[in-house]
Amino acid sequence: MTTPTTPRDAADAPAWIADVANPYLHGIHAPTAVEIEVNDLATVEGEIPRDLYGTLVRNGPNASQLPSNLYHWFDGDGMLHALHFEDGRARYRNRYIRTEGLERENAEGRSLWPGLMGPVDVSRDPFLKDTANTDVVWHNGALLALWYLCGVPYRVDPVSLETLGAADFGGRLATSVSAHPKVDERTGELVYFTLSDFEAPHMRYGVVSRDGELVHEIPIDLPGCRAPHDITITERYSIVHDLSLFHDPEILKRSGYRVARFYRDLPTRFGVLPRRGDSDSVRWFDFEPCYVLHMVNAWEEGDWIVMDGCRQPDPEIERRPEEGELASMLGYLRIKAHMHRWRMNLATGEAREEVLDDLNVEFPLPDTELYGVKTRYSWCHHLPTDAYTVDFRALVRYDHETGAAQRYDYPEGWHGSEAPFARRAGRSTDAAEDDGYVLSLVTHDESLESECWIFDAGGVERGPLAKVALPQRVPSGFHAAWIRGERLKPVR
Ligand SMILES: [Fe+2]
Repeated sequence: MTTPTTPRDAADAPAWIADVANPYLHGIHAPTAVEIEVNDLATVEGEIPRDLYGTLVRNGPNASQLPSNLYHWFDGDGMLHALHFEDGRARYRNRYIRTEGLERENAEGRSLWPGLMGPVDVSRDPFLKDTANTDVVWHNGALLALWYLCGVPYRVDPVSLETLGAADFGGRLATSVSAHPKVDERTGELVYFTLSDFEAPHMRYGVVSRDGELVHEIPIDLPGCRAPHDITITERYSIVHDLSLFHDPEILKRSGYRVARFYRDLPTRFGVLPRRGDSDSVRWFDFEPCYVLHMVNAWEEGDWIVMDGCRQPDPEIERRPEEGELASMLGYLRIKAHMHRWRMNLATGEAREEVLDDLNVEFPLPDTELYGVKTRYSWCHHLPTDAYTVDFRALVRYDHETGAAQRYDYPEGWHGSEAPFARRAGRSTDAAEDDGYVLSLVTHDESLESECWIFDAGGVERGPLAKVALPQRVPSGFHAAWIRGERLKPVR
């Protein structure tokens, strides 16, 4: 394991990190205390393509206050970093997501919640701070910032990154929303799920219309508290997950600790239901036990539902005693996942699955405007299993038809970030699916300088076409999105 023992910290990090010896508060993980906007960024190499028009937004944890207890990487307050590209130029902006929890803590000038490492008070609601730090999705003219443990979907202006408030979907949202809802570009609908730790129903499923009204919501019958992370859609169906890894329900109920266990005897199940189906319409398909953080996409082929994603065949959390009090968190972050395909036949009930490739990859994204219809390509990252963190070491473009993978290994010291696909502006309607760019925010672990590297989406192995210097370090983070330029205008 390569835990940084004496990482250098950039000047923009808050002074209080000096008092905390936790690798997730230092080096490339250190939060930044600075919110800025800078126009006309310089390129370090190459030129920004003039047909790259739109905004890259990335979410991630950025602790604002000194943690009161042992810090977990997932605890940090959500911060968005945005790079807008237009006419061969780029501008940068970063802002906290002004969650209720962040505002309360900032008002008091101290941390008010313990994090995932506890100890927590389960009688408190919420007993963990909803940070909105995980995912960012474009819907109904604004960004939605979302939390993986299910929370408030915060609406954010895509231009100013100002937090507009909680999205309540026409006043009809009674519960929370998980990270990774899917937007169907053809209908404009947003399809989501949410989880309940302690009470049945342990999952709810919903659909929000193009103009932001909740139009459908139903309970999904799960046998207990589960921990799925994603949901997929096809043109007519949605697929919900009941996976073989979840948090020990007794410990969770008693103490609020999330102790992940792999229940090797429980099948992994995917439930297929019509987009606006009722609870009784869910058809469950059993597969070999596994865990899946992120799916690539799903689509229909005749009677078959086809779904590709990053399968973890043996997600048991490996705790290494030498890692001390951080052992459980570090074990959780050593992801071993490969590209996999599941097939479900709606006519016969048949379930099939196959390994597509054995390279360890995660954080896959197709062209997200094609969610629900067949896609051939995805862009993901190779994660080494000996790292102390989710370390984006190589960008991979995967061809789901041929199984071919193009791979670009970042040079020594550079670490990437989830890389969304950006269609080339003005491309013809019959352009190839991968006609465009992929963008990765990279940071060097010694210089602590960050850059945005722009790749030809069809040839990532050739390395970046351009490198844009960022005016400040972008801490390591989670999910990113690309929003086409013509969609961008300030929201009021
Ligand atoms: Fe995720």
